[in-house]
Amino acid sequence: MPGADSAGRERGEAVESDGVAADPFGLKALLSPGIDPAFWVPERIGVMSAWWAHVPFAFWLTTMARPRVLVELGTHNGASYAAFCEAVLRGKLGTRCYAVDTWAGDEHAGAYGEQVYNDLREFHDKRYVAFSELVRSTFDEALPFFLDGSVDLLHIDGYHTYEAVKHDFDSWRPKLSDRAVVLFHDTNVRKGDFGVYRFFAELSQQFPTFEFQHGFGLGVAAVGPDAPAAVKQLCGLTSEAEIGTVRERFAHLGARWFAISQDALALQNAHQWLAEADRQLGEAQQRAIDAEARLRSEQEAGRARAKEVEAARQQAAEARRDADAARQEAREALRRAEERAQEAAAALQRALDAEQELAWRRSEMGQPGRGAATHFVRDFGYRLRGRKPPAG
Ligand SMILES: C[S@@+](CC[C@H](N)C(=O)[O-])C[C@H]1O[C@@H](n2cnc3c(N)ncnc32)[C@H](O)[C@@H]1O
Repeated sequence: MPGADSAGRERGEAVESDGVAADPFGLKALLSPGIDPAFWVPERIGVMSAWWAHVPFAFWLTTMARPRVLVELGTHNGASYAAFCEAVLRGKLGTRCYAVDTWAGDEHAGAYGEQVYNDLREFHDKRYVAFSELVRSTFDEALPFFLDGSVDLLHIDGYHTYEAVKHDFDSWRPKLSDRAVVLFHDTNVRKGDFGVYRFFAELSQQFPTFEFQHGFGLGVAAVGPDAPAAVKQLCGLTSEAEIGTVRERFAHLGARWFAISQDALALQNAHQWLAEADRQLGEAQQRAIDAEARLRSEQEAGRARAKEVEAARQQAAEARRDADAARQEAREALRRAEERAQEAAAALQRALDAEQELAWRRSEMGQPGRGAATHFVRDFGYRLRGRKPPAG
């Protein structure tokens, strides 16, 4: 960061002893514009990353190193890359930035979906598109697109085995400029096949280095002979106390962003959980509304069926009444028919009696035999009884 004490920083060695004498209360140091970047607030809060603890250092380093070309190998959600870009933007550094990643994941980071790339792409394009590119390819495939000796700041954070990190460093080494600084993440991971710590130890034999131990470890190597003075001074620290102070202060600053990003993630998860609970509640409410509607329509259907049954019952009762009345009428008709038959039989009897009397009178008067009328009355009497009349 250019400022009143930048010449002192360039000189490096004189700053601290003079500073202590001239700044007994540390106020000047506290007000120094040189440490401003370490207190900047990152923009990419809310994404998962093991890198949050190093964001204040990334702000500070980028501002101090003023790289012309910055390349990151391994970007994932973009916590580290956004910190570099943020420093370029805020410091008006004119740096060209490139993030190289397949955005498919690896065995250490785990495989992840397109959403990660799409989310970063959207975030990136809103803020950094004027000076930054997301290069979606393998690290090796990206090599031909960079000029030899052009990269001032290289951050290696891909696959973390010894062989992979060595390959990444060796293959990108020709691209490094004379001012080159190389960062390695995960120098302090001692598990499984992580081997960055081993490679960084070897590199420390060849180049000035500084290592932060918090946040899984971040190694800084001043690889170019003309590395920025700030980086040379950092890597040149020999006092255990000073090394410890720098480590501790950046660890404190980084812990804040680590904690805040954890909280933001927890909040996001809680929001997602709430949204999911809301969705399930909505579904349950809809199911209850549907069930109520079904119940209502079944009740209505039940009432309609009950009405139909009642109507059918009434019709049956009416039919029964009609049948009783018809039966009654039939009985009445039969009774009347029997009466008429009895009357006819009585009339017949009377006719027979009259006939007999007539016959008797004729015989008295000497006129035997029966006339046609007598036969008719006799035959009618037989038919009325349902019998065949005799001949003659
Ligand atoms: C540990 S993550 C990067 C973390 C990131 N720097 C951050 O700030 O959180 C490692 C990334 O490197 C990528 N990667 C690993 N090996 C790669 C390779 N050879 N080529 C391209 N991408 C690779 C993975 O896809 C993964 O996204």
